[in-house]
Amino acid sequence: MPNSINFPVKTIITIYNNTLKEKNPDTVCPMEIDSIKKREQSSSLKSALAVKAALTEQVLADLFDRQTEIPPRLKEAMEYMMTGGGKRIRAALVMWACETVSGKLNHDAQVAAAVVEMVHTYSLIHDDLPAMDDDDMRRGKPSCHKQFDEATAILAGDGLLTLAFEMMSIEVRNSDIAVRMIRTLSEAAGPSGMIAGQVADMDGPHVNGSLANLQYIHMNKTAEMFAASTALGAIAGGAIEEQLDAMIEYGMKIGLGFQIADDLLDITASTEQLGKTAGKDAEQGKLTYPALVGEEKSREIFEKLTCEAVCALQIFGDEADTLRQLAMELLNRTQ
Ligand code: IPE
Ligand code: IPE
Ligand code: MG
Ligand code: MG
Ligand code: MG
Repeated sequence: MPNSINFPVKTIITIYNNTLKEKNPDTVCPMEIDSIKKREQSSSLKSALAVKAALTEQVLADLFDRQTEIPPRLKEAMEYMMTGGGKRIRAALVMWACETVSGKLNHDAQVAAAVVEMVHTYSLIHDDLPAMDDDDMRRGKPSCHKQFDEATAILAGDGLLTLAFEMMSIEVRNSDIAVRMIRTLSEAAGPSGMIAGQVADMDGPHVNGSLANLQYIHMNKTAEMFAASTALGAIAGGAIEEQLDAMIEYGMKIGLGFQIADDLLDITASTEQLGKTAGKDAEQGKLTYPALVGEEKSREIFEKLTCEAVCALQIFGDEADTLRQLAMELLNRTQ
């Protein structure tokens, strides 16, 4: 193959690792969790998230309304999974990253927010399939293969994944920005990102039960999509390199924390609270933080990641307050 592609193969992980390399590990975050907790208290974060979730639903509905040639049953399955129920955290991250960088929300960030949720939702449909986690419930409803059938669920996932990139290529008008966004998201969701994480997750502790493998799983299956979300928002907002790096570090750290929280909640919360079957990880012998290091140590690691995520936003000053509060809100979810 001619050597015409001269950019690095994995941007997000490369940027993240380089950012960490340049920092002294002892000074990544000099703050204690309790002082951050006091500073970042917010009663309005939940309603701010609800506003972003509603906006995401609206953008998604508009995108779907324009799809007139999807076979009806396939479209029904795609819309069944796309409407309602999701927390829309990744979409909010895209929009808040854009607002933090540029002071306002723009069209490209709204498109990217909807697109990220489509890719995320596809990953959930496939994650629930009998061949994978075999979960009958998702977002408080029967999962896609239960409501429809397995073939329809596989194809609805395929449909969402491809439509997501089609939408980005059509809706993001500046082609340089569109290509950067498509590249960022495809790399994070692809076979050396989220899918790689899912492969290692399926192999589980039987193949490799080490902490390094667990970190690899979380980094790839979850954190890269969080970092892609903040990166997309930063790109939409016209970020300079230093801002993009900081957004990727923040996204990666809250993503790593988010998966620890998901694993903790799998043990401590009920099926009703989760909207998906509780206790699945232990039943399936998954490699998780609570299984490997226990619940208390898992919480400690989660708190440290949250501190570091908050500290990564330093260069933005007060503009990043909402993102800091989100990091705290995600931590509070498990407490
Ligand atoms: C679930 O993600 C999958 C994980 C990476 C743990 P969310 O908890 O964000 O799922 P929804 O979108 O709110 O349903
Ligand atoms: C899923 O992780 C991560 C994805 C890439 C979909 P989990 O398997 O823990 O997610 P849940 O608990 O089913 O939502
Ligand atoms: Mg899974
Ligand atoms: Mg699962
Ligand atoms: Mg889980």
